[in-house]
Amino acid sequence: MYLAKEDRYEKMKYLRCGNSGLHLPRVSLGLWHNFGSVDRYENMRNMLFTAFDEGITHFDLANNYGPTPGSAESNFGRIMSEDLKPYRDEMIISTKAGYYMWPGPYGDGGSRKYLMSSLDQSLKRMGLDYVDIFYHHRFDPNTPLEETMEALSDIVRSGKALYVGISNYNSEQARKAAEILKANHTPLLINQICYNMMNRWSEADHLQETMKELGAGMIVFSPLAQGVLTDRYLNGIPEDSRAKRNYFLHEDSITEEVLAKVRKLNEMAKGRGQSLADMALAWNLREDKVTSVLIGASRPEQILDNVRFLKNMEFTRDELNEIDRILS
Ligand SMILES: NC(=O)c1ccc[n+]([C@@H]2O[C@H](COP(=O)([O-])OP(=O)(O)OC[C@H]3O[C@@H](n4cnc5c(N)ncnc54)[C@H](OP(=O)(O)O)[C@@H]3O)[C@@H](O)[C@H]2O)c1
Repeated sequence: MYLAKEDRYEKMKYLRCGNSGLHLPRVSLGLWHNFGSVDRYENMRNMLFTAFDEGITHFDLANNYGPTPGSAESNFGRIMSEDLKPYRDEMIISTKAGYYMWPGPYGDGGSRKYLMSSLDQSLKRMGLDYVDIFYHHRFDPNTPLEETMEALSDIVRSGKALYVGISNYNSEQARKAAEILKANHTPLLINQICYNMMNRWSEADHLQETMKELGAGMIVFSPLAQGVLTDRYLNGIPEDSRAKRNYFLHEDSITEEVLAKVRKLNEMAKGRGQSLADMALAWNLREDKVTSVLIGASRPEQILDNVRFLKNMEFTRDELNEIDRILS
């Protein structure tokens, strides 16, 4: 039987999510990859236990995570019921709907029909009465935003989610969503977007500033660019890596030009006495504009590596300029 480490809250840092009363760990764990029906159950358990033992209290899912779609939620539900149930009140569990999940007109998008049915399915797969955060996974231009946001508010009122979030919404969309939610007396908790040293669309969109102004938090996914911003690919493409095994990260995208930059960043990280993964995560959290980095992992050791940076999160202005210069 799993017993969580007693010192689990001593090392992790937590930050209040926007103006809410909810504190999120600076590092959260996502179950997009490596938790599906094709993956090793023992490894998933160990990753969740390792994360929780390090003070990672937030676990992020979506209806379609797998493969097969839905299986990450089913596996997580099994581990919850067999091992983590005593810790439910110490955990922030999120799920989402917004991408294709089932055939026909009701298994995709942002309709009230899809969101309500999908959350019911997710709760069933995870064996939970409620999730802590329910997200609309992506903006849907074909559904009135009022319908999507009212569905989210009603979900909170029904008790099936405690907070609501949006994901992949830009500044303009986030402002409109927050306004509708506010009129429905449901504060917007958070926006989940992709952000890392190599993907900085949100800076041009001033999204960090927008979320702050809206009093909402921001959690960033793929903070390691799916593994590219680590030492994973410095000596070729390993057989067990995401680039070899998964079509979300293409081998072709890891070019010599990209690797030349990653090598320079890796040298810089060494100079700071940390791994490149750690430097990349610390960079994402600089100036506290981002509430939490949402990492993925394929093994427990990566999770251990990815919390070490909490001891060294500071950058000098020269270091920040050097990172920009390397990536320009
Ligand atoms: N809202 C959305 O639309 C959306 C989209 C994507 C993701 N997400 C969320 O964000 C989470 C994280 O996304 P992500 O998995 O792309 O994040 P990521 O942290 O950028 O990438 C994780 C991958 O990087 C490699 N890695 C991690 N730590 C490492 C280390 N210390 N050293 C070497 N390699 C390391 C591993 O790849 P290997 O498998 O090669 O070992 C791991 O699977 C997802 O699980 C999901 O919850 C949300």
